[in-house]
Amino acid sequence: MTHKIWLMEGLSSQRDIIQGIKAFAQKKGADVSVIASHRNQRNEILSQADHSLLEPKEDDQRLSFILSIVDQLGIQAIHTGRNCLWFESHRQEIENSGAKLTTGAIGAPQCELADDKVSFAQFMEKKGLPVVPSILVESVDELRRLLALSPFGTQPMCIKPVRGIYGMGFWRFDETVSPMAAFTHPDSRKVNAHLYISALEQAGIFEPLVLMPYLSGPEYSVDMLVERGKVLAAVARRKEGAFQYLENAGEAYELAISCAEVMQADGLVNVQTRNNASGQPVLLEINMRPSGGIGYTRYSGVNLPGLFAMRQLGLMSQQDIADEASSAFSPAMVRSVTDVISYDPTLTNLLQQE
Ligand SMILES: Nc1ncnc2c1ncn2[C@@H]1O[C@H](COP(=O)(O)OP(=O)(O)O)[C@@H](O)[C@H]1O
Ligand SMILES: [Mg+2]
Repeated sequence: MTHKIWLMEGLSSQRDIIQGIKAFAQKKGADVSVIASHRNQRNEILSQADHSLLEPKEDDQRLSFILSIVDQLGIQAIHTGRNCLWFESHRQEIENSGAKLTTGAIGAPQCELADDKVSFAQFMEKKGLPVVPSILVESVDELRRLLALSPFGTQPMCIKPVRGIYGMGFWRFDETVSPMAAFTHPDSRKVNAHLYISALEQAGIFEPLVLMPYLSGPEYSVDMLVERGKVLAAVARRKEGAFQYLENAGEAYELAISCAEVMQADGLVNVQTRNNASGQPVLLEINMRPSGGIGYTRYSGVNLPGLFAMRQLGLMSQQDIADEASSAFSPAMVRSVTDVISYDPTLTNLLQQE
């Protein structure tokens, strides 16, 4: 029997996940078919699967689409890397079709907690896990007042949206940089506080922000395969300059695992930590979905997407996963490069939808 897993649209790395699953199934001699779908015609992603589908653009068409595809193709497992809340609110109906659903979480409250960096920090504190000290800022005046108070002593400060993604809106406050620094060196992410405040005032609209001490690092990004709060396999990426070092031990690695456990994560998720001034890792955030860099972890020998698919399709036990993750691992150093691939404007694996 062919085992079928369906990867619905994800935020990033859907292509790496498909390739990981295909390679792993082939290595293990497992009869696995990968179906991939996206709202947009992303042929560079969709072409990597055995079969591809275009998703409806509207939320209200999604459920009937899913149910008809599961029925038509005999899908056993669905993975989504987007729309966690929508999927959680339809979990019962989707799973009644017989397919297992993975959203990264076990319910809507966990998705919401992960998306709000201040509530997340408070929850981690309550659970006794070290997390970056986080102050919620709800107005420009409040930010002005807080900056004058230096709430983190002599530590430099930084700011980001409470509900951010892709590092957008993250800025370090630095009074020594030129007022032009944000324009001439945007990647260094440094801005004068008074310029930031003036821009915020002029913008007119205000999205809640979180004020934090700037942590010196290094930063860790830990990719994990988790099953209802039980971490089955994990690979940490220590980020130093242009390099990432793949590891499977250490304080940051352990902290990330504890975080995924208390969040009751489920599926492929990612936790980020950064070392504070005393060298201790503290939590920055959890993403209840695969990270953009999950594909890099394959250079350690551990194929997290492959392990995920085998587990969801009932082809490996929890113990098999743990054994494979520890025996396959070897430390590695990677560097990301920009690349191009050839793009075929027609999909030859696109399924007709009834
Ligand atoms: N307190 C902090 N100190 C130093 N760097 C930080 C801090 N908070 C965030 N960053 C940097 O900004 C990036 C984005 O922050 P993060 O919390 O991961 O939000 P998101 O990825 O959701 O935008 C991090 O990967 C890290 O490099
Ligand atoms: Mg992040």
